[in-house]
Amino acid sequence: MSEHVMEAQNIKMYFGGVHAVDDISVYVDKNEILGIIGPNGSGKTTLVNVLTGIYTPTEGKCLFNGQDITGKKLQNMTGLGIARTFQNLRIFKALTVMDNILVGQHLTISNSPWDILFHGKHYRETERKARERAMEALELVGLEKNADDFAGAIPYGAQKRLELARALVMDPRLLMLDEPTAGLNGVESEELMMLVKEIQQRNQISIILIEHNMKLMMKLSDRVLVMDAGREIALGVPAEIQSNPVVIKAYLGEG
Ligand SMILES: Nc1ncnc2c1ncn2[C@@H]1O[C@H](COP(=O)(O)OP(=O)(O)OP(=O)(O)O)[C@@H](O)[C@H]1O
Ligand SMILES: [Mg+2]
Repeated sequence: MSEHVMEAQNIKMYFGGVHAVDDISVYVDKNEILGIIGPNGSGKTTLVNVLTGIYTPTEGKCLFNGQDITGKKLQNMTGLGIARTFQNLRIFKALTVMDNILVGQHLTISNSPWDILFHGKHYRETERKARERAMEALELVGLEKNADDFAGAIPYGAQKRLELARALVMDPRLLMLDEPTAGLNGVESEELMMLVKEIQQRNQISIILIEHNMKLMMKLSDRVLVMDAGREIALGVPAEIQSNPVVIKAYLGEG
């Protein structure tokens, strides 16, 4: 039996009486982009929060390469190769663009307190490597010239790309993006998503993508999960989704 990169099995996430996610089963395979769409409050973010261990599901299992990771926190799983971005920007505006990347990386770099305190040889070497990797990630998203700018001073679109770079520096095998284009204009959205696709193909990674822009979603996704009120209303390749009467009625509406 082939193993999926990530698999959610019968996930339920209830907050009291709110059934935020209600029996969702879905997987993503190697090199695949799984899109998740659905109206506001349909449970998209909650599903990703369960997959990244922010919540332990009320019921169900999360598997990563066949390994049970249900409820495991993402920060304890960086070695596994999972990274995500958040719907609301989580960059540090008072730090430079470079330092925003380094802060994330420092979680994964091991240094003894002694080394850190006295900037020992090992510290300086890992620091140099971390900067090198950070610069590579910034180059990927076209922010290498902004490395020394304060993150709060670069345009919003660039801040979104910085958040993407912070995830990419982890060299993930699976990347989860929660509305990466929210707040961007049409051109910026298109550019960012083309960049995501390019990186996905070059690094052969799997992506779970939450996105409201239907046109981009249909263009980029290999398969799409449509959620409504915590439930799956459709799951399939874009052509199936676009012609699914239930989806058209519930979500595409005006289409
Ligand atoms: N921590 C929580 N406690 C209580 N209810 C929550 C919690 N997190 C989410 N919810 C509820 O779960 C439902 C699904 O929310 P979620 O944020 O997952 O939706 P979404 O599909 O990501 O929406 P949007 O498109 O607006 O981002 C909503 O009714 C929300 O209020
Ligand atoms: Mg959301």
